[in-house]
Amino acid sequence: MKCPRQLRPHVGLVLAVGAFTSLFLFSLRKWPSACVVPEKPPATPKTLAWPAPPARPRPARCQANASVATHPDFAGQPLQVRNFLLHRHCREFPLLQDAPLGKCSGPVFLLLVIKSSPSNYERRELVRRTWGRERRVRGLQLRRLFLVGTAPDPHQARKVNRLLKMEARTHGDILQWDFHDSFFNLTLKQVLFLQWQETRCTNASFMLNGDDDVFAHTDNMVSYLQGHDPGHHLFVGHLIQNVGPIRAQWSKYYVPQVVTQEEQYPPYCGGGGFLLSRFTAAALRRAIRVLDLFPIDDVFLGMCLKLEGLKPASHSGIRTAGVPAPSQRLSSFDPCFYRELLLVHRFLPYEMLLMWDALNQPDLACGKQTQVY
Ligand SMILES: *[C@@H]1O[C@H](CO)[C@@H](O)[C@H](O)[C@H]1NC(C)=O
Ligand SMILES: *[C@@H]1O[C@H](CO)[C@@H](O)[C@H](O)[C@H]1NC(C)=O
Ligand SMILES: *[C@@H]1O[C@H](CO)[C@@H](O)[C@H](O)[C@H]1NC(C)=O
Repeated sequence: MKCPRQLRPHVGLVLAVGAFTSLFLFSLRKWPSACVVPEKPPATPKTLAWPAPPARPRPARCQANASVATHPDFAGQPLQVRNFLLHRHCREFPLLQDAPLGKCSGPVFLLLVIKSSPSNYERRELVRRTWGRERRVRGLQLRRLFLVGTAPDPHQARKVNRLLKMEARTHGDILQWDFHDSFFNLTLKQVLFLQWQETRCTNASFMLNGDDDVFAHTDNMVSYLQGHDPGHHLFVGHLIQNVGPIRAQWSKYYVPQVVTQEEQYPPYCGGGGFLLSRFTAAALRRAIRVLDLFPIDDVFLGMCLKLEGLKPASHSGIRTAGVPAPSQRLSSFDPCFYRELLLVHRFLPYEMLLMWDALNQPDLACGKQTQVY
């Protein structure tokens, strides 16, 4: 489960950023060197030069499980619950876009695995230009992958599939499967990724699993992870415990008893962003073979950990429920404040750019007023 929306920056803040952006764009004319990309632009994409992975046989289309519909409680469920139940057993979907073969060659220290909706092009672009840029941090390699399904509307899907094909060619960072990218299919997306990883990228020391609307301080993450052994258990994020299924139909997170009888979820980390080690990823891959899919992806991973006898842990620098402003006068957008954090949920694309730029100013002096706006 993700964060409550009311924790987003309030309207005034958003207007202020708008004003700042206009000012900023205006200032660009005078000082073209104030270009917002702080470091060297990425090398020209090695378009077409990537060795393509071998083609896989296309799995047969998965049939809906009609006997599920005979359950007396089935018909009264909302559409997403019915769709989930009918296709709960489906785990093989054609891979429409694959990563280049070399994605994980050479030691990868931190693999950024970012769930993105097909049409979230701007978010992906901003992540590529900011915290998700493939680079070395203190000599350690970062790599990036976006996990995407397909748009449920066929016309939209044709259009967006072409976009994703283009992105895959240019950036080599798209894994796209042919299933409907919906909220209740996020677990499927997670499972398909872990299955893909089994043959293509088991060697990455650590992974950040997250959404495309987070701001991740990847440099801080590397520092934090350097103190850990990838061969040991690590699963940290915004820890959520002592909660259970929401049985109110209006809720986005509504999970009826036909899906689970349990009244308590195991401890889990909010799906906005969490870090895990190679050891723990292998444990998750074992667990997904055994467990039935559960519609809420982060809770599902909590179930996998429990099955493996492992526990998620809390990291105070991971704030998937947003960050309260430190005080009324100090904006929660103060880069000095973010300098200490690992990950914060709910950033608009331009906010990512502003924050990334501010954090990368060599003269970022903390202790005095250093708000971005
Ligand atoms: C289809 O649903 C029924 C009833 O829920 C279940 O017993 C059966 O295992 C399901 N079949 C598959 C292939 O998942
Ligand atoms: C998940 O994707 C499958 C394949 O596209 C689709 O049949 C199913 O309805 C989707 N489930 C949900 C809950 O959207
Ligand atoms: C992963 O590492 C192991 C041991 O270090 C090595 O034998 C294996 O070839 C590596 N696999 C890949 C895909 O790089």
